[in-house]
Amino acid sequence: MSDTILLIEPLFDRIEARLDADYDTLRLYDPAMRETIEARLPDIRAVVTGGGTGLSPEWIGKLPALGVIAINGVGTDKVDLKLAAERNIYVTTTPDVLTEDVADIGMGLILATLRKIPLGDRLVRSGGWANGGKLGLGQRLRGKRVGVVGLGKIGEALAIRAAAFGMEIGYWNRSPKQAPADWQSFATPAALASWCDVLAVCIAGVPETTAMIDEAVLTELGETGYIVNIGRGSTIDEDALLTALENNTIAGAGLDVFLDEPRINTRFAALDNAVLLPHQGSATEQTRMAMGQLVLDNLSAYFAGKTPPTKV
Ligand code: 8YV
Repeated sequence: MSDTILLIEPLFDRIEARLDADYDTLRLYDPAMRETIEARLPDIRAVVTGGGTGLSPEWIGKLPALGVIAINGVGTDKVDLKLAAERNIYVTTTPDVLTEDVADIGMGLILATLRKIPLGDRLVRSGGWANGGKLGLGQRLRGKRVGVVGLGKIGEALAIRAAAFGMEIGYWNRSPKQAPADWQSFATPAALASWCDVLAVCIAGVPETTAMIDEAVLTELGETGYIVNIGRGSTIDEDALLTALENNTIAGAGLDVFLDEPRINTRFAALDNAVLLPHQGSATEQTRMAMGQLVLDNLSAYFAGKTPPTKV
């Protein structure tokens, strides 16, 4: 008999086909499966979930046979790691394979925001252009300063891209970091914000980074400054960000992540100075295939009684 796993959110269909072939796969997002899942809770030995979704402590409590939580992503912020350790549950992630694609979306958000690409698209589609409508001028990237908050793998990959566009690089990192000599290090996020034109938030969403980009940091960024977030919504004080965008005390924002995604604060929808994406940083066929392969590798190692290769 196949081992039973619980899938919390949909994966790339080619990976789901592999899960279906190898396991008895229960799908939490399928309303038709609710009753079956309730009846089969004691059988479930593995959970597969997304980085932005994780698994709540309540659900961990409902699964007595749970041995592995395989995250299809790098963020562990939505899983209680202490509770998992107490229960001897492995938590696995998909490191490295998504770095370049997430950095691409970061660069895309810088371009989209400073060059008003979505506004241009809307002007053309709405017929506004044909009727004499004009798009206001954007900002040149070359020569501008990008301040990377969190110079981890993704932050570094974004900085390399921004440098290739002729942008100056500064960064703030929680721990000392080896970086190219022409990348300037700053002592605090506020000092970085005051120096840069584009604050690129690439940091993990852990308790120490919660709302670290607050009103004071946004004030330092100032009315010509832009913010981009490709990490986690929790790192920005979202109310302060919305107020700054509404009052034009910063110039704009490009956001792939939000506090209460996917049901984000409705105030965002009215903002012309914000580019909003549905958490699509790692969403390419190639990366989702590679992430899914790591999930499969971790599951098969676990069910074979071995240590999952990318456990945290
Ligand atoms: C994914 C993520 O969008 O890596 C993460 O932590 O949030 C993203 O790469 C997500 O995990 C897919 O469900």
